[in-house]
Amino acid sequence: MEVAEVAAGMAATSLGNPEGRVLRRITKIKKILEADVASWAGSRVLVGGWVKTGREQGKGSFAFLEVNDGSCLANLQVIIEASTYPLAELVPTGTSVLVEGELKPPPEGVKQRIELKVDQVLEVGPVGEKYPLPKTRLTLENLRDFMHLRARTNTISAVARIRDELAHATHAFFRQNGFRYIHTPIITTSDCEGAGEMFQATVLFSQAEKLAKEIKENPLPTESDVEAAKHVVKEKGDIVAQLKSTKASKAEITAAVAELNKAKETASRLEERSKLKPGIPVKADGGFSFDSDFFKKPAFLTVSGQLQVETYACAVGSVYTFGPTFRAENSHTSRHLAEFWMVEPEMAFATLEDDMDYAEEYVKFMCQWLLDNSREDMEFMVKNYDKTAIERLKLVASTPFARVSYTEAVEILMGVTDKKFENKVEWGIDLASEHERYLTEVIFKKPVIVYNYPKGIKAFYMRLNDDQKTVAAMDVLVPKVGELVGGSQREERLEILKQRILDADLPLEIYEWYLDLRRYGTVKHSGFGLGFERMILFATGLDNIRDVIPFPRYPGRADL
Ligand code: 4AD
Ligand code: MG
Repeated sequence: MEVAEVAAGMAATSLGNPEGRVLRRITKIKKILEADVASWAGSRVLVGGWVKTGREQGKGSFAFLEVNDGSCLANLQVIIEASTYPLAELVPTGTSVLVEGELKPPPEGVKQRIELKVDQVLEVGPVGEKYPLPKTRLTLENLRDFMHLRARTNTISAVARIRDELAHATHAFFRQNGFRYIHTPIITTSDCEGAGEMFQATVLFSQAEKLAKEIKENPLPTESDVEAAKHVVKEKGDIVAQLKSTKASKAEITAAVAELNKAKETASRLEERSKLKPGIPVKADGGFSFDSDFFKKPAFLTVSGQLQVETYACAVGSVYTFGPTFRAENSHTSRHLAEFWMVEPEMAFATLEDDMDYAEEYVKFMCQWLLDNSREDMEFMVKNYDKTAIERLKLVASTPFARVSYTEAVEILMGVTDKKFENKVEWGIDLASEHERYLTEVIFKKPVIVYNYPKGIKAFYMRLNDDQKTVAAMDVLVPKVGELVGGSQREERLEILKQRILDADLPLEIYEWYLDLRRYGTVKHSGFGLGFERMILFATGLDNIRDVIPFPRYPGRADL
């Protein structure tokens, strides 16, 4: 049976193809539930999803299935009669179904808006054994043991949709503002933050393992094996010499030379192989040798795409990169991941002030985007996790952020009497999360941008201020999360930048290309990095960053 087009071409279209086969398109439950009941009732649709709950009714004569297809939080109520399909196979939670039928308004007084009366069950993915996710709500922490199934829960699928919206908001914002999206590398040979918290990308270990296995199966030749092979070469050589001196036939000499060459080859192979050393290759000075590594030098997973994206900012103007970044810091907090996504814009001819303006505008834009596009999922967050989540989005979207210098921020914190901080406050410290949150949650009660940090606690690329003590850095701090954005005006002066690299104990050679940007047509430029998962935490009000990325990686855990 063909599925009719319904409700002004909204979905469920039938597409004929050249072979005359009918390709049927499923209708997303979101579309069905959003639509006006009157326009949908009576339409035929094809729906595919997973059974959230199923129950047989009327002494087993029909079943109600609550089907969810992930397009939205709400389920579609599906009714199937026993004559259509064996109901016992459809009702277990987790069963997948592809069904077709007619949309019907529910009986008066029932809370469902519209339901699907199914007359064809096209496909079923049964749940043979007990479904691993219990019906009672698991804590988000326990759900992390079901990384492959947790997307089927309301919370994790809502987070996935919010995350997707924020990614779209990001591209929309930068596009509207004339930025180009640049893909920076994931594997890099420069340490952007100079913090040495990088995961190494190397094949030395797998090479060593392969060799060890191979040696076990086929032991390395000993010295006497090599000697014996060399002895054979000598013997064969003698034979050739003798044949030549006795003026033997050409055929005989050729055969003997061939044997000699074979023996030479065997000997050299054995000798070569006898030199193989199991384990990771080391240099004479004791350090590791990367000559046999994939890139022939140490390489790492990037901690930030900033340095590379700067090369494009200094050519294309306003650019941004948005991708995964990796940090091998041993942080077990609810705000840190070992693999997280970062949005990093970089603007040529821009100062710290411009940088702060863009960061503020971008964060506001994302908040407004969620208010406009993720209402249902945000309401779910308010109901289940954080009563203030929507209020917070509204507040942030509409209120100017506070701006204070680091020095002012430290003065404010030193004057705090109603709270004892675990980390002592004095000029020069790196603000701890407790300080950042106090500033934004208690003092300002809104996002606050702290700028001009002491140079000693910030990365080498940040522009040195005239006071010689501070750099043109800025962090955006927001309630619930603390640091959401870190950015700066970049040091565009060659000599000062060189000195900053040396002062940070970093090797100049690795950064020569970066210095070239200052040698050839240097410009004032600025940028920042927004921690994408921190933005999702801030938006949803969830407590742990491990629940806002599909596959969290943190010390001791990298499932799937
Ligand atoms: O402040 P960070 O380290 O800045 C940079 O990496 C710059 N290169 C960015 C730039 O200027 N282009 O990191 C930027 C943001 C932080 O403010 C925080 O939100 C997030 O990235 N972040 C993390 N998020 C999750 N897990 C971690 N381990 C994070 N480390 C930083
Ligand atoms: Mg930072």
